[in-house]
Amino acid sequence: MNQQEHRKNEHVSLATKQFQEETATATRLAEVRLVPHTMPEINLDAVDLTTTIAGQKTTAPFFINAMTGGTSETGKLNQQLATAAKETGIAMATGSESVALRSAAAQPSFTIVRQVNPAGVVLGNVSATTSPNAAQKAVDLINANALEVHVNVAQELTMPEGETAFHWQENIVAITQRVTVPVIIKEVGQGVDPRTLHTLSTLPVAGVDLGGRGGTNFITIENERRPHQDMAYLKEWGLTTAENLLIAKKIASNLTITATGGIHTPLDVAKCLALGADNVGIAGSFLHILIKHDLTTLVQTIEWFKDQLKRIMVLCGCKTIAELQRAPYLLSPALQQTAEQLLTIK
Ligand SMILES: Cc1cc2nc3c(=O)[nH]c(=O)nc-3n(C[C@H](O)[C@H](O)[C@H](O)COP(=O)(O)O)c2cc1C
Repeated sequence: MNQQEHRKNEHVSLATKQFQEETATATRLAEVRLVPHTMPEINLDAVDLTTTIAGQKTTAPFFINAMTGGTSETGKLNQQLATAAKETGIAMATGSESVALRSAAAQPSFTIVRQVNPAGVVLGNVSATTSPNAAQKAVDLINANALEVHVNVAQELTMPEGETAFHWQENIVAITQRVTVPVIIKEVGQGVDPRTLHTLSTLPVAGVDLGGRGGTNFITIENERRPHQDMAYLKEWGLTTAENLLIAKKIASNLTITATGGIHTPLDVAKCLALGADNVGIAGSFLHILIKHDLTTLVQTIEWFKDQLKRIMVLCGCKTIAELQRAPYLLSPALQQTAEQLLTIK
């Protein structure tokens, strides 16, 4: 097994070991309250969760975000995640396909996702240094409906063997010009700052996945892999999911906004949509359920999320996802102030 493959297995085991059940404080979604609608005039059965992700219809506005692939262990996880996505009709992203672009032996751990779910909405994932031709190969490998391109400065700088040069913009534009599907720029857990959002809104990308802080934390994961674990002090680096959502649509209104980072409950999903997300990515918590329990429990949990999201929508007086995106909310004064400060950054 090469270093990249070994690293992927380590990421899965460290993410599982560091998993925190409660995330609403860390994401600052605890400081967001949806305003109830006391006489909603809605029938629960009439609530419609369907939406589009990457232009394709899905049964719910949340999806399984990028995690695994590259080794036989993570190929098995991809197979199970893809089965859960198929059985529930939600979208799914694979983990970074970079390893499969270098080694044909790693490809089945990704192609299994399309094999299991031929008609599903599947997103590919590559790093921002991937060449445009290789990015198209990553799309072709799984017949992806969209391509996530991850940007992860904090992860690379904490990773013992990580990159140290970060010149991505030109290559990202070249990727968008080469690939045949929409491109989504994605952080992995430290959020996307206002200046980057301004830049992204001028590039030919379709969307941004905020990958906010509060859930899986690649600074603490990579720090565990460092010989002296000397970077734990940086663990609160970045913008939380709630902070990031409050600025994203205001700055980059032309992009689709994906909220990822510490989403653990149906109420988290509803709050993200009300704060302006178009869809919501869930990674660590679905992986945790699959590993600690089994595929059946993951499928049941996804169906439970859907049912609960409908109930929350009735509580808010919303029949559709578009209505939920306009639902009123209250913010703690501290969170509101953070958002106002962030919006002054150009
Ligand atoms: C085990 C594991 C592996 C991951 N691998 C990738 C990856 O290959 N590419 C990527 O863009 N994000 C990757 N992520 C990041 C997730 O897609 C997500 O942005 C992040 O975990 C925050 O969401 P969460 O709090 O729901 O886990 C990975 C996450 C986990 C838990």
